[in-house]
Amino acid sequence: MQINKVKGTYDVLPHESYRWHALEEKIHQILKKYNIKEMRTPIMEYSEVFHRQTELSDMVTKETYDFDDRSDRKLTLRPEGTAGIIRSYVENKLYASQELEKVYYIGPNFRYERPQKGRYRQFYQFGVEAIGAVDPALDAEMIMLAYDFIKKLGLKGVTVRINSLGDDASRKAYQEALTNHFMPHKETLCDDCKARLDKNPLRILDCKVDQKHPAVIQAPTPQDYLNEASRDYFHKVIEHLNASKISFEIAPKLVRGLDYYSHTVFEIEADIEGFGAQNVLGGGGRYQKLVSELGGPDLGGIGFACGMERLLLALEAENIELEKEDVLDAYVIVFNDDLKIEASKVLYELRQADLIADMNYTNKAFKGQLKQALRLGAKYLVIIGEEEFKRGVAGIKDTKTEKQEEVPMGRIKKYLLEKVGK
Ligand code: HAM
Repeated sequence: MQINKVKGTYDVLPHESYRWHALEEKIHQILKKYNIKEMRTPIMEYSEVFHRQTELSDMVTKETYDFDDRSDRKLTLRPEGTAGIIRSYVENKLYASQELEKVYYIGPNFRYERPQKGRYRQFYQFGVEAIGAVDPALDAEMIMLAYDFIKKLGLKGVTVRINSLGDDASRKAYQEALTNHFMPHKETLCDDCKARLDKNPLRILDCKVDQKHPAVIQAPTPQDYLNEASRDYFHKVIEHLNASKISFEIAPKLVRGLDYYSHTVFEIEADIEGFGAQNVLGGGGRYQKLVSELGGPDLGGIGFACGMERLLLALEAENIELEKEDVLDAYVIVFNDDLKIEASKVLYELRQADLIADMNYTNKAFKGQLKQALRLGAKYLVIIGEEEFKRGVAGIKDTKTEKQEEVPMGRIKKYLLEKVGK
């Protein structure tokens, strides 16, 4: 019986993986320039890392994969990268150095969402976190990094949208204003939003059901409730961005879908024709309580994460190839089975010289081997024939020009290295 993949997941097939490698390579390269090191945390954590009392977002209340392990421990497959990074930051006392800790990560996350193009139940994120400081310059740096990253990928139809939720007091004032605003409409909101109105009215703004509800459209924005200190902080962030000529848009309605944010929030949106509904390539913001909620000191941080699948879709939509797929330099073909020993000896030698080379293992006749070599796009064919082998030579054929030359067996490696230019 054939078993299919789990709904909302996908396979990266052999001819597709080079695009992932190229994107990952680009991420490592860029982050190196920012002097930021990679961090890897487990894909499963104790459930309370994500199920914190203050986190009432849909992502955490409805979409996590929770399970008991064989010793009845409650575990959760991570739905995002930030909380696990902070758990590790606290557990490993990375704050002890008193230095700001900046890290990046790449890895799979799991959310039980309705799958569609650009939205999966297992998806990869690339993210960055800067933990241990509250400074508008740092908020600006994270936005600049995200912007620089998108530019270095070559993506053009992309907008960075930013907003501020303000400090605790501003957020509270805004929440109250939202409650007062939505209360008269309570009966016309969806059941989830009725509950959100009591617990966390901010989440009504990104409800998928009530998106077009007039009360949602007319809701007040966080900017209207920023106190002076918060407004100041936000202006400073903007000043930094302007000084470096970063192009961005202020998005007064942007609140983001997670509860841990305060002050600066931002999103990277693709405005590429035919891209589809899931056009948010990445998002992030400042978090002030996450470190202390996870048992650490009272330190703030800021970060963002991008969906890797969406980045790849955006690159495809803009016809950008970060790297070409590697092609075979040489394919070794033999006229009969007895010559296979010679073929594998040559093949090993070519590989030791860093040439990309292969041969046939399914006992195909000469014609079949040739077909396979051409299907794989080999640049050169190394043909070992019976009579030629007796004379100590092989035929090397350039598949583009179709020219063939006889080359002494002992010189095949040198000949190909020169031809391929390695
Ligand atoms: P998020 O907005 O939930 O933020 O996710 C960040 C990005 O992950 C999204 O913009 C999107 O590109 C991608 N993404 C999310 N869900 C899916 C899905 N089901 N399928 C495909 N891609 C998806 C966070 O996760 C925060 N941890 C970001 C952050 C870091 N905030 C501060 N530091």
